[in-house]
Amino acid sequence: MSNNIVIAIDGYSSCGKSTLAKALAKKLHFIYIDSGAMYRAVTLYFLRNHVDLTNHEQIAEALKNIHLNFHSRDYQTHITLNDEEVSEEIRQMPVSDKVSEVAALREVRHEMVKQQQRMGRSKNIVMDGRDIGTTVFPDATLKIFMTADPKVRAERRFKELQEKNPNITLEEVFENIAHRDYQDTTRAESPLVRAPDAIILDNTNMTPDQQLQFALDKVEPLLS
Ligand code: DC
Repeated sequence: MSNNIVIAIDGYSSCGKSTLAKALAKKLHFIYIDSGAMYRAVTLYFLRNHVDLTNHEQIAEALKNIHLNFHSRDYQTHITLNDEEVSEEIRQMPVSDKVSEVAALREVRHEMVKQQQRMGRSKNIVMDGRDIGTTVFPDATLKIFMTADPKVRAERRFKELQEKNPNITLEEVFENIAHRDYQDTTRAESPLVRAPDAIILDNTNMTPDQQLQFALDKVEPLLS
């Protein structure tokens, strides 16, 4: 088997991209990279340091001070921001509310894409995000574009968030998802769009196991 197979999984927010990407990486013994976690960690740094998103010098300076690292344990995302484990904090609402705005910044995307391409060099990886099959790895071995009914997505995310934040409402989560869909698809810098050669996976009525099987059926013929 080649040692530079890239599986790109893109799609809307809260579509289960990371669940599928992790399962696939585990099954194939590939490295899993959650590119959204990188944009989230940058957002956390910007929030903590009150970076003015209209000030390009401040943004460039902040990016120089941000060092991100993944620590892969049991295929969960463990990301550090300047050596601090921030995996939990980047999932909370303050970051979720701001991340699309930060991810739309040209300087931020430029830096993240560079780092992501470096991570995929000479390795077998599964990377999920919004622009992996279009911008980061346009020559990916396999591209999957995930989608699902927005109401179903909000319910799934709500259940996840409610465990840690009992005050959260379904409406809030739905609004956040709708807002992120809008921002992600309409931004000027590499908007979320399906690559022409990406396979669509609508998982509104599919279990995680069915999605894994769907992806394995597509990838296995490409591995020999
Ligand atoms: O996948 P996620 O919800 O953790 O991603 C967080 C945000 O980061 C999302 O609103 C869009 C952005 N993102 C992006 O613009 N490009 C990527 N490759 C991954 C995420």
